[in-house]
Amino acid sequence: MKVLVTGAAGSIGRTLVRGLSGLGHELRGLDLVDGPALPLGWLVGDCLDPAVADEAVARVDAVVHLAGNPNEASLPESLESHVQTTGRLLEAMRSHGVSRMVYASSNHAVGHTPSGEVLTVGARPRPDTYYGVAKASAEALLSLYADRRGIGSVALRIGSFGDRPGSVRELSTWLSPDDAVRMVDAALRSTEPGFHVLYGISANTRAWWDLGPGRALGYDPQDDAETYADGVTPGPDDEAQNAYVGGPHVSQLQLPPAF
Ligand SMILES: NC(=O)c1ccc[n+]([C@@H]2O[C@H](COP(=O)([O-])OP(=O)(O)OC[C@H]3O[C@@H](n4cnc5c(N)ncnc54)[C@H](O)[C@@H]3O)[C@@H](O)[C@H]2O)c1
Repeated sequence: MKVLVTGAAGSIGRTLVRGLSGLGHELRGLDLVDGPALPLGWLVGDCLDPAVADEAVARVDAVVHLAGNPNEASLPESLESHVQTTGRLLEAMRSHGVSRMVYASSNHAVGHTPSGEVLTVGARPRPDTYYGVAKASAEALLSLYADRRGIGSVALRIGSFGDRPGSVRELSTWLSPDDAVRMVDAALRSTEPGFHVLYGISANTRAWWDLGPGRALGYDPQDDAETYADGVTPGPDDEAQNAYVGGPHVSQLQLPPAF
């Protein structure tokens, strides 16, 4: 499949560029910074720029949209980084007839949900930050473009991406690099029309989130954070971090004024 990866120079992007290439996808990268030579080229630019978005989606089959600031910011900055970039790419996709997007959403779209019961994809949006508001809003935009424009999408509510879990919370929320590649590959290959949500975690023994919808789309995670449990040192903040799905975003981040 010919695929545009936005945010391809980032931590998840670099992993996906290697992994998806290895699975036979032909890639084009887009990022604010330069990156490796890819079969469909590498664009340096801002995907908010209409000319950049237009050039980026030309002659691809699908878009994997990772570009965005993964940290908390003001409300306008968050909306620009996550919602407006998504809208810009969706419009460019519409004019080029590209009908599939895989989107890096976040657990923070539902981060203020108390932990305890296994969270399903039917949970209402319950953001814990402006970042979470922007991710929930980007999901709503994808839903609109699926229903009204026929652009199918999968929003991946990613937990904690990294080489290994680094805290007790991450024993529940970890997403391994190999599973990230498996997940995005499955979302790209799925022929399900419409808008879908799945939780982006590995097959963690202590998972808080329902992997069923991801499995139904073909995501078959192979790693388990439990493998690393002996190396994770319990900390004084574990109880607070485990109280809400969003962890430290809820227990440690004060919510500043929106503007
Ligand atoms: N890392 C995680 O655990 C995690 C968890 C949940 C969601 N996510 C989401 O996954 C995506 C990737 O996260 P990451 O950890 O790789 O972040 P990262 O900061 O390492 O990478 C993001 C990349 O996007 C690029 N970028 C940002 N804005 C851009 C724009 N307007 N146009 C073009 N490029 C732009 C940056 O230059 C950077 O290379 C983000 O959307 C993030 O919110 C990540």
